[in-house]
Amino acid sequence: MQNDIHSIGEHAREEISKASSLKNIHDLKVKYLGKKGILTEQLKSLKSIPKEDRPAFGSSLNEIKKSLEDLISRQEKGLKASDINNRLKTEQIDVTVPGCYTPSGRLHPVTQVLDEVSGIFTSLGFSVEEGPEVELDFYNFEALNMPEDHPARDMQDTFYISHDIVLRTHTSSVQVRVMEKNDPPLRVIAPGKVYRCDADVSHIPMFHQLEGFMVDNRIRMSDLKGVLELFIHRVFGPHTKVRLRPSFFPFTEPSAEIDISCVMCGGKGCNVCSGTGWIEILGAGMINPRVYEKAGYDPDKYTGFAFGMGIERIAMLKYSIDDVRLFPENDRRFLEQF
Ligand code: PHE
Repeated sequence: MQNDIHSIGEHAREEISKASSLKNIHDLKVKYLGKKGILTEQLKSLKSIPKEDRPAFGSSLNEIKKSLEDLISRQEKGLKASDINNRLKTEQIDVTVPGCYTPSGRLHPVTQVLDEVSGIFTSLGFSVEEGPEVELDFYNFEALNMPEDHPARDMQDTFYISHDIVLRTHTSSVQVRVMEKNDPPLRVIAPGKVYRCDADVSHIPMFHQLEGFMVDNRIRMSDLKGVLELFIHRVFGPHTKVRLRPSFFPFTEPSAEIDISCVMCGGKGCNVCSGTGWIEILGAGMINPRVYEKAGYDPDKYTGFAFGMGIERIAMLKYSIDDVRLFPENDRRFLEQF
């Protein structure tokens, strides 16, 4: 009997030592120590052996059981550890491998400047209006005090769609459209594309303008100056000097060109400002009473100012770009710098 269980124990030890997986170990545990396991059956048979042999048999059995349990738990530990090590080896992630580069898009520099400029005026309470790019001759010229035979029409190289339809040559075309639909007080900006038949380093046939106008019953030239100075200081810095130079536009009276001290040389004179120290950045003036008449406003009741600027021009000065044709070209090497 004793020999029997010792050889069972030996055999079990050998099997358990050879187990190569946790599943093996589990099966062996069931085989020897489970409810119907070989050793368990031996314990149950204790009653059937002679009384005097029972203590020695029982204690041997318990000893073997205990040693098998120990061996199983050691084997389990070892197998679990090598399992983890295996997984660490095979499932390893090399965190030093360079990542995949996903190029991200960005706003076009003209859009960025348009957004920045619009933001300055909306922060002052101006609202944003839009008008059509394919425009009636009426809104582009006629309503702005430029009748059909007016020499001022020669100032702009116009794309005609038909006798009375044009691609708008400036955003001033939005002025009368807004006035027809709204009563003063007005504080409006109108950003958008405009078209002129012109092409060289400083002209492209499609470009962007931002129009602005304010109409109420006591708007003065000083208001125009104040608003534009604030705008210029925000875009080009607080030390930029501003100068109003007399000019002419049929739809403003008086009219002015707004110059700023040269952003390159600070006013000393360089090739960007042709040695003058000043750069022209926008046209402006007090809205001509003739325009109010066309819009159906009482010209004796209201006054106001208007201004218009080229967005590409502002962007060129801001980023020191010397060829306006780079904007519509959309070369990524250019665009990625903004
Ligand atoms: N529309 C003019 C241009 O395109 C600019 C301008 C706007 C001038 C408003 C005066 C008032 O040159």
